[in-house]
Amino acid sequence: MKATTRLAAVISLASLFPLAALAADSKGSIEVTHWWTSAGESAAMDVLRNQVKADGFTWKDNAVAGGGGAAAMTVLKTRAVSGNPPGAAQIKGPDIQDWGQLGLLTEDGLDDVAKSEGWDKLLSPTVAKIVQYDGHYVAVPFNIHRVNWLWINPEAFKKAGIAKAPTTLDELFAAADKLKAAGIIPIAHGDQPWQNSTVFEDIVLAVMGPEGYNKAFVQLDQKTLTGADMAKSFAALKKLTGYMDPNRGPQDWNQATAQVIQGKAGMQAMGDWAKSEWSNAKKVAGKDYQCVPFPGTAGSYTYNVDSLAMFKVKDEGTVAAQKDVAKIALGTHFQTVFNQNKGSIPVRNDIDMKQFDECAQASAKDFAEASKGDGAQPSMAHNMATNLAVQGAVFDTVNAFISDKNADPAKAAQQLGAAIKAAQ
Ligand code: BGC
Repeated sequence: MKATTRLAAVISLASLFPLAALAADSKGSIEVTHWWTSAGESAAMDVLRNQVKADGFTWKDNAVAGGGGAAAMTVLKTRAVSGNPPGAAQIKGPDIQDWGQLGLLTEDGLDDVAKSEGWDKLLSPTVAKIVQYDGHYVAVPFNIHRVNWLWINPEAFKKAGIAKAPTTLDELFAAADKLKAAGIIPIAHGDQPWQNSTVFEDIVLAVMGPEGYNKAFVQLDQKTLTGADMAKSFAALKKLTGYMDPNRGPQDWNQATAQVIQGKAGMQAMGDWAKSEWSNAKKVAGKDYQCVPFPGTAGSYTYNVDSLAMFKVKDEGTVAAQKDVAKIALGTHFQTVFNQNKGSIPVRNDIDMKQFDECAQASAKDFAEASKGDGAQPSMAHNMATNLAVQGAVFDTVNAFISDKNADPAKAAQQLGAAIKAAQ
């Protein structure tokens, strides 16, 4: 049988035995597309998987490896185009609006859960807006991640004779020099597009502050994108990449985290999902590792809200499973245990943060403070600020800049402006 014929046969057989029918005792089944595949992320996801199963539903895991989710989004688009979307998928930020506009997300499927569970009171207006389309909840939010963190191995700092965590870009470079002199990789990193842009957005925030960051990545203001401070940000990025392992390649973010955990590297600039790896390695915040705002960004908070969007499906069992997932995800127990594992803070506003470690407590406090003014900003690198086309334009420009040792920072700023204009 030819491969295509075999595939067609499999598809038609599968349609005779839908998943719900296969699982005899199940109340319904739900397939979930996500990218939580590192050890720490997977441990966090287990909390949901186990509860959904305990509630009598069948969980079909569609995990697509690849930090930041680009690979998962490609799989999701293919599935949606072929008329076979999963019941739920990890979709975030403005992208939720795009999927809603395509008419592919549930219309009022979560409204009854949201009403009975009191989501309007539990969620901040910023978060509620992100997960609604056309006035209806179409996704359930899980958490708030902070992106602008720096993770430090204190033993490595001690060996290198560094007395305190850096608080400015200059102090960061000075610490990196000392680590290098001590034979330790100063900054652990993997050259994947989203990791490069995570570091870049940290630097833009440090150089321009939250207002400049907003002008660049939220308002997409051409003057800011092509201006002197953007050139300065590219120059700082170039300097910082000089402190990364020259043989690093496109390693995964959690492999870079492992280098810091093992003391091979001294620091990593990464969002607080990195903490899931430290927790998974049984390391204690404040003792075995230190978390500080990315140097130069204290007082600002780049947020990244994970959410599962629910697709429009006909199968009643799947609809019931979607409601179950939504109810669990915003429940008190899940919000506590999941976020302790994931490294993020609860999205519910009534959880006692005393149950969390010092990094999470600092994150909650800083988010509350930053939200009073302009300090809280949506992460560009993590799909919260722009649509994926604009984000792709930033990723491409930053990648091209990093891979060309002779690239000129002022020219890169011009290129960034042009690439974003073309993507809009
Ligand atoms: C997600 C996190 C995830 C990280 C690494 C981010 O975009 O929001 O939940 O842990 O990517 O995969």
